[in-house]
Amino acid sequence: MVKAHIAPSILACDFTQLGSQCQHAHSCGADWLHLDVMDGHFVPNISLGFPVIQSLRNLIPKDQGVYFDCHMMVSNPEQWVEELGNIKVDQFTFHYESTKDPLALIKKIREHGMKVGVALKPNTPAEVVDNLGELVDMVLVMTVEPGFGGQSFMPEMMPKVKYIRDKFTSLDVQVDGGLGLKTIDAAAEAGANVIVAGTAIFNAEDQKKVIDTLKQKVNE
Ligand code: DX5
Ligand code: ZN
Repeated sequence: MVKAHIAPSILACDFTQLGSQCQHAHSCGADWLHLDVMDGHFVPNISLGFPVIQSLRNLIPKDQGVYFDCHMMVSNPEQWVEELGNIKVDQFTFHYESTKDPLALIKKIREHGMKVGVALKPNTPAEVVDNLGELVDMVLVMTVEPGFGGQSFMPEMMPKVKYIRDKFTSLDVQVDGGLGLKTIDAAAEAGANVIVAGTAIFNAEDQKKVIDTLKQKVNE
């Protein structure tokens, strides 16, 4: 049985309060932090980069039990592996669509001390991970087109989640985009166990309640 992890996406933070908002989400039960890096090329938006991630890692060091999950929405992900390894993030998730050589990239990420995730855009079929599932720690099934927070969840991605879950029973399967109290049932039922939520967590009045509920639905 895979474990539930809730990963607040910091894209939905008030960036003037980033550190305290991340600490608050952690104190409300989030054991992952989802860090969306966008380069304005792979996706039509620019978000945050290394100085921000470094500051957060300084504030919340590795031994505090917050898993830094970097979602790299960038062209040429190979270029950024060393830097993120030096910052000591926990995981580097690259987009399948952004690399010509996923096997070499997976190897490079591991050599730099990080876990590996592979992300699939909505139009990328689940079968592309048939030969990668055994080599990575997580598959991320995007449930929106990457690039922006606050979009609507795409339920039509759930067969992809189910396909991957059925094939790789102990793998972390993450969903990202439009997750919240209204959409968690579909995702949990399909087999997702790592739930990214930006607006649903950071805009909530009672974050603990939202995080507890998301976790509970995965564990049901
Ligand atoms: C979108 C990002 C998501 C986004 C999720 O490209 O990958 O992580 O911040 O935001 P919500 O939960 O608001 O859809
Ligand atoms: Zn993301």
